[in-house]
Amino acid sequence: KCPDVITKTDWLAPILWEGTFDRRVLEKHYRRRNITVGLAVFATGRFAEEYLRPFLHSANKHFLTGYRMIFYITVDAFFQLPDIQPSPLRTFKAFKVGTERWWLDGPLVHVKSLGEHIASRIRDEVDFLFSMAANQVFQNKFGVETLGPLVAQLHAWWYFRNTENFPYERRPISAACIPFGQGDFYYGSLMVGGTPHNILDFIKEYLNGVIHDIKNGLNSTSEKHLNKYFYLNKPTKLLSPEYSWDLAFSPPPQIQYVKVAHDSQRKL
Ligand SMILES: *[C@@H]1O[C@H](CO)[C@@H](O)[C@H](O)[C@H]1NC(C)=O
Ligand SMILES: *[C@@H]1O[C@H](CO)[C@@H](O)[C@H](O)[C@H]1NC(C)=O
Repeated sequence: KCPDVITKTDWLAPILWEGTFDRRVLEKHYRRRNITVGLAVFATGRFAEEYLRPFLHSANKHFLTGYRMIFYITVDAFFQLPDIQPSPLRTFKAFKVGTERWWLDGPLVHVKSLGEHIASRIRDEVDFLFSMAANQVFQNKFGVETLGPLVAQLHAWWYFRNTENFPYERRPISAACIPFGQGDFYYGSLMVGGTPHNILDFIKEYLNGVIHDIKNGLNSTSEKHLNKYFYLNKPTKLLSPEYSWDLAFSPPPQIQYVKVAHDSQRKL
């Protein structure tokens, strides 16, 4: 195992790299608990299907294989489920979001809609929930090691950079502000996980921050608000960049086993 990676945070949350966990022991634990895991994914615009098809196929193959899971798919237009072999362990539920919330941009409408669905039913249906952007593809097993009360993803690019240069929001008037000299890691916004209860808290806080900024004429990015949330509410588990590798960069030696990939250079 490559020695120069961080495997624990200051607040003692594990950072998952291949080789830092014993999946067999974890499997035993979660089998006994008879868990159901939710995977919420959203995709907007005319490329929604183009992203969703490989996302769903690859998730079906690699995400929590062998466990009961529910896909929650949020779309803003008609969408046809890809042809996936039916399995008693996999359920697909699709939600359509309206366009009435004109003052929120696409991703925010989805976050808000996901919050409403968690409150009304998802929290009774699953033990753990991941929310992911559709422009990703699972490449290897994404198993029970990733489960926890509040799970954050380390940003693949910024993990290898100096804290001082993190692109946090620095303007004090923004709800997302993290002053210079503070902050732990730079988190990516392509996935968030945890218990439905914690994801719902995250969504509420996050939307409050975004709306506060919009009202004040600020334009901080969603990712900066997410970073502020995890600065105030420390995640209990962190996924290394192996879980969100950007294919536009060739992996450094620390990245030995890419589990989820995306391509920031792919322009659609
Ligand atoms: C596991 O949970 C499912 C759904 O929540 C339920 O239908 C099933 O009976 C449970 N199995 C056991 C062994 O408890
Ligand atoms: C936000 O607004 C400022 C000032 O108007 C501008 O310089 C900056 O590029 C904008 N940032 C984003 C993410 O749109």
